[in-house]
Amino acid sequence: MYLTEEQLLIYKEQGFLLLSEYISRTEVGIVKAELSALSTEKSPRKILEKDGKTVRSLHGLHTKNDVLNCLTRHPFIVEPAMQIVGNQVYTYQFKANLKAAFTGDIWKWHQDYIYWHKEDGMPRPQVVNAMCLLDDMNEFNGPLFVIPGSHKEGMINIMAHNSRLTNTNSDTSGDNPAWVSSFSANLKYSVNQELVTNLVSKYGITLIKAAAGSVLFFDSNIVHASSNNISPFGRSTVIVTYNSIENIPLPVQNPRPDFLVSQDYRPVIPVAPDALSQFSSVKV
Ligand code: SIN
Ligand code: MN
Repeated sequence: MYLTEEQLLIYKEQGFLLLSEYISRTEVGIVKAELSALSTEKSPRKILEKDGKTVRSLHGLHTKNDVLNCLTRHPFIVEPAMQIVGNQVYTYQFKANLKAAFTGDIWKWHQDYIYWHKEDGMPRPQVVNAMCLLDDMNEFNGPLFVIPGSHKEGMINIMAHNSRLTNTNSDTSGDNPAWVSSFSANLKYSVNQELVTNLVSKYGITLIKAAAGSVLFFDSNIVHASSNNISPFGRSTVIVTYNSIENIPLPVQNPRPDFLVSQDYRPVIPVAPDALSQFSSVKV
């Protein structure tokens, strides 16, 4: 399913494009059932919230699970990704952010590309996120906040802006490997309050409110965040990041695990539009 010229222009201008109720409820149910089963397994791919028991996120499961792999190859998602990136793409990252009712924690203000560039050696921001909503996202359950147009700032030099601050943003405490600080509520490269204030006064602020099945494509340099979920409504999402096959990361000193930064650079071949719905959501 390809985007129209008008949709591509909206994406370029505001740095995101929301396609409402884009994949079916059946497909959403199938993906949710799979994530729910996988979230009970013990795995290094699983990040917990600060309470030490609620699942915050699951990583790289598309290489382990046929249903999730099929989602990354859904033509409704991968065809727009190829258009946006302007090339064939491979799946760079797959993560499920579960943001559980009552306990799901925040994602601080940040840009994504700075992680991929500094930690993983990605040469250019020729990459796109597709956030698939598996629950309705509303004012109450910790929706995504975005600063529309902020991607036009490019990668912000966080270090220069933060050098005046005494505390560091990175959470490398305890037994966790260093990369966990990119997925905890205390993000490594978060954008400080002064900068967020300036960006919001320049560009404004909006939240993504949409029904389950909606898909949000967003730019790797858009400044975004989300608040915690104190509501009784879960807010689960899958974010698939597609990188251009001509934007392969350069070698870095401490590469992150393969389940965070895929080294499988084969182009994603879209499946048939009904392939995902062929899986049954009923477990026997
Ligand atoms: C992210 O920035 O990667 C996640 C944001 C969210 O799930 O709210
Ligand atoms: Mn992000």
